[in-house]
Amino acid sequence: MVELSPLSPSFAARLTGVDLTQEIDDDTWHVVEAAHHCHPVLVLPDQTISDDQQVAFSERFGLLETTKPGTVGSGSKVVVLTNLDHAGNIVATSHRQILNGRANQQWHTDSSFKVIAAKASLLSARIVPQSGGQTEFICMRTVYAALPVALRQQVEGQVAIHDYAYGRGQIDPNLVTDEEREALPPVEQAMVINHGEGVKSLYIGAHCKAIKGLTWEQSRQLIDKLTAFATQEQFVYRHDWKADDLVIWNNRATLHRGVPFRSAEARRLMVRTTVAGDMSTLAAAG
Ligand code: OGA
Ligand code: MN
Repeated sequence: MVELSPLSPSFAARLTGVDLTQEIDDDTWHVVEAAHHCHPVLVLPDQTISDDQQVAFSERFGLLETTKPGTVGSGSKVVVLTNLDHAGNIVATSHRQILNGRANQQWHTDSSFKVIAAKASLLSARIVPQSGGQTEFICMRTVYAALPVALRQQVEGQVAIHDYAYGRGQIDPNLVTDEEREALPPVEQAMVINHGEGVKSLYIGAHCKAIKGLTWEQSRQLIDKLTAFATQEQFVYRHDWKADDLVIWNNRATLHRGVPFRSAEARRLMVRTTVAGDMSTLAAAG
């Protein structure tokens, strides 16, 4: 029996009774879709799936992004987030995979550095460390609704510049290659979005560099203020991974970040599929 139970805060929920190792029928899909619609973070435990099964299920949400160069899984439809090499050994702390992991520890939303940002992501836990390595989520619809009026007025109608090189550069300037810089020039994103669900959401995150029409200082001050407000503890759902959990999130309604773990000693392997967006945030400005 398919069962939906809210987690805390209740923008996250747990959906049980669905078996993604089998192709799901349309009735089951409609239950998943409705649950995803109501809960921007949805946890499906006990899904021992292969990459192909993950891709097949993810494609029900829409077209998938192809993994960019410089990331494990490049050219395929999966992103592999891990501190392990192909042989299963832990890589050196200076390795790009570790730095990429650190970059994911900044609050962000996936692919906000692309002209058309990602709609949703599905992350499958294959190997999890005993401690640390959780993933935290914030519902940016809740945050928008709770924004103090003065802050809301300052952000309404604004357009931000999101830049991959800026976000990654905060971790290590060497993390961004010339190839990436060229392939991923800065893009514009609306700061308040409403993707037809009738609910406004605040759209910021680690790649959000500046605000159009404001000076650098004004931009950073406002972005930092918004980030500080959004990331207050009462807004955060922290997911404690168990192996075979699959978590689905709405990138237009949430921010997320990884929690550090002892990556020189413990093993972690996660596989992500990313559902491409179908509309620019500028066209969906709230
Ligand atoms: C991601 C991500 C964080 C984590 O998969 O997009 O940011 O905890 N993951 O692995
Ligand atoms: Mn991410």
